[in-house]
Amino acid sequence: MKMTRRGFVGTIGLGSAAGLLSSAGLTSRHANAASYADEAVYDGGIMQLNQNESARGPGPKTMEAIRSHVTKRVGRGYAPDHVNELRSTLAEGYGVSTDNVILATGSGPLLVGATRAFCSANKPLATIDPTYTTAEQTARQMGVGIRRVPVDGSNMGVDLDGLAKAAVGAGMVYFCNPNNPTGTVHSPAAVESFVRRVQRESPNTRMLIDEAYINYAADEVMQTALPLALEFENVFITRSFSKAHGMAGLRVGYALGQKQTLDAITGAWGMGDVNMLSAIAAITAFKDKEHIEWERQENTEIRAFVVAAFNDMGFEATNSHTNHIFVNLGRPAKEFRDACLEHKILVGRDFPPFHNTHCRISMGSREEMQQAVEVFRKVLA
Ligand SMILES: Cc1ncc(COP(=O)(O)O)c(C=O)c1O
Repeated sequence: MKMTRRGFVGTIGLGSAAGLLSSAGLTSRHANAASYADEAVYDGGIMQLNQNESARGPGPKTMEAIRSHVTKRVGRGYAPDHVNELRSTLAEGYGVSTDNVILATGSGPLLVGATRAFCSANKPLATIDPTYTTAEQTARQMGVGIRRVPVDGSNMGVDLDGLAKAAVGAGMVYFCNPNNPTGTVHSPAAVESFVRRVQRESPNTRMLIDEAYINYAADEVMQTALPLALEFENVFITRSFSKAHGMAGLRVGYALGQKQTLDAITGAWGMGDVNMLSAIAAITAFKDKEHIEWERQENTEIRAFVVAAFNDMGFEATNSHTNHIFVNLGRPAKEFRDACLEHKILVGRDFPPFHNTHCRISMGSREEMQQAVEVFRKVLA
């Protein structure tokens, strides 16, 4: 049975996930769905629901741009035109100067560079617990202090009041919005009041706002903190092409902020050289707004299907606006992970302090998640 988008969403609203699976399945509404299923990113026969990558990879226009640039021209590239063009495309897209943009081979090096630039022996890192840990790992390697602020136990949102307090005297605050692994988001008003408070109470503290998952969140729930980064030298944001743009293997990320702040980051750590094929892919993906909107909606529907299935089994997930969910299974993540792996599905790693109750599951394609939900039902029965 084929299902239209409206039919799918309607069914989610009305019926149980079990009903969905048995009567209709998670049918694709995309013309190229078959090719997504064929090319689903399996590694050694294992379905990878563990790293928050896009199971669908880049959109058709981006794929075509990459293919058409695989020429002998790749023999020339020490002054790669497309890399400069990517920087100016991003600047133009955000209405800023190229001085407000730095590129990196993924956003990871930006998190390392920022921590190295702004934290030191007497300037600790303030971060969320749990969150993405590159900044924290870097601080640990540097031997600098780390102030961890637990997420709000009631809804797993970031405790912005606690984070603002922890920021006082810190070298840098790491604020992941939407947060990984909880998937929760904070509104523009909440982010703005947090930033203004930290700016007021701790004027020397930098604020890194990591927006790696922003393309999965609807405009109604969150928006970029770019205006704050342009207003305050202390604020900068990082972005990634690894998530909704489906380019994790091509390694492109960037930061937006004031020139002197970005210069300090590049001065502290190497950002790597973005290569010309990755650059042309990123330019095309960035301009293809229609595809990103399609990707967002596709992910939203798949996530609703999976959350509904867990609810049907009696388990609650956090209110995620990303391509992963954080589910309270009431048992150690390792137990669930090992059981799923026996069915060749790999789910997320431990996220202390919730490793004895919660598991992070990345969203795969429709076809993958339909199979995965069947496995989840079996192992949780
Ligand atoms: C919140 C967050 N930031 C940054 C990254 C780094 O991604 P990349 O280096 O591929 O841009 C990740 C990767 O999972 C992430 O979850």
